[in-house]
Amino acid sequence: CIDVARLPKETGCFTYDPGFTATASCKSAITYIDGDEGVLLYRGYPIEQLAEKSSFLEVAYLLMNGELPTEAEFATFEHEVTHHTMMHERLKNFFQGFQYDAHPMAMLAGTTASLSAFYHDTLDLEDPEQRRLAAIRLLAKMPTLAAAAYRYSIGWPIRFPRNNLDYVNRFLHMMFEVPSEPLEINPVVAKALDLLFILHADHEQNASTSTVRLVGSTGANPYASVAAGITALWGPAHGGANEAVLKMLAEIGTADKVDAAVARAKDKNDSFRLMGFGHRVYKNFDPRAKIIREMTHKVLGELGVNDPLLDVALKLEEAALKDDYFVQRKLYPNVDFYSGIIYKALKIPTEMFTVMFAIGRTAGWVAHWLEQQVDPENKIGRPRQIYTGATPRDYVDIGKR
Ligand code: ACO
Repeated sequence: CIDVARLPKETGCFTYDPGFTATASCKSAITYIDGDEGVLLYRGYPIEQLAEKSSFLEVAYLLMNGELPTEAEFATFEHEVTHHTMMHERLKNFFQGFQYDAHPMAMLAGTTASLSAFYHDTLDLEDPEQRRLAAIRLLAKMPTLAAAAYRYSIGWPIRFPRNNLDYVNRFLHMMFEVPSEPLEINPVVAKALDLLFILHADHEQNASTSTVRLVGSTGANPYASVAAGITALWGPAHGGANEAVLKMLAEIGTADKVDAAVARAKDKNDSFRLMGFGHRVYKNFDPRAKIIREMTHKVLGELGVNDPLLDVALKLEEAALKDDYFVQRKLYPNVDFYSGIIYKALKIPTEMFTVMFAIGRTAGWVAHWLEQQVDPENKIGRPRQIYTGATPRDYVDIGKR
């Protein structure tokens, strides 16, 4: 608690907590993390069980509704999501306004925010059905916008969603299908992507989810709130780390250069950090990283991919885990360390890695937004500050300064 009485009328005490390391901003029943033990539960279910047995769409239902669906409930949910996958014809014009080489995250954030200009019904946030519909629209349209951003960036025409396919296969078709060439999706690829979406679906009050809640706390519509979450996710300290990890591994290049990279990461005069290492909450192995690590070997093996970057990653993990600097600071590989290698094996381009994360995390963002809307204790998020500026002084005319 810091005494803030610096100016004559300022009194009282604030908690000074940069980065909110010790501040709970809300109560939530969605996701539980035990960072010391490396435990992650969605609505009470261990992530390991959901990763093994569930599907992304079922997990999205669970996060949004609190319980796993019955067969009938799931069929209705899947039907509703499928029904809302199309994007408005005029929304396509938004893509034409971007530079051809715009980053897909920029296009995703811009077009997601623009959804609020198409669905005016959601402006009545008092209506639970409108809120639910908005959440479903966001979940349904995110892969459509993501694939459109990618195709625009490579100069290919945008594909409509094929609604006879499931969530993941539909997305992969929108990404990669070309006219006159039927696309066969390898089930290994579809399963791996579904699993990555599950692992990315929610992670309690991370930076992007907190951003969604902060914007949501003002009464802004859900499309604007989620668009803000997308921009927060983009940073390399958050979801942008998966793209940064792959760039880092490529820069390191070969396993014999790993020790030099570890030395650089420890050097406090060098801003270089091991991307994909460390986490605000996990002071143990990130349970998602354990699952992804195992999956990386399986997917690369099944697809017959021999990626030298995997050797660099394994050597880097080994070197860091026995280095005192990383051990003392409890810096372990996080969810992003191996995900890029899998995305690469699935032929997802590097600039799309964080977009992939956004598709999965949309389930969590809308679940938190829905929870916040019925929280009787919700109030506008408005942190205070410790003022460090000038004390009162008189204005000096410009000619006399
Ligand atoms: N490489 C080298 N040193 C590191 C790393 C790293 N990746 N991460 C943390 N450290 C060091 C810091 O320099 C600091 O050292 P010090 O105590 O000597 O000053 C100490 O470990 C604590 O680090 P903080 O930055 O204070 O920890 P914080 O909780 O604020 O940051 C974060 C967590 C942002 C994830 C950080 O570990 C990091 O930048 N990692 C790399 C980026 C990354 O992988 N981000 C993805 C996170 S997971 C996600 O968002 C999905």
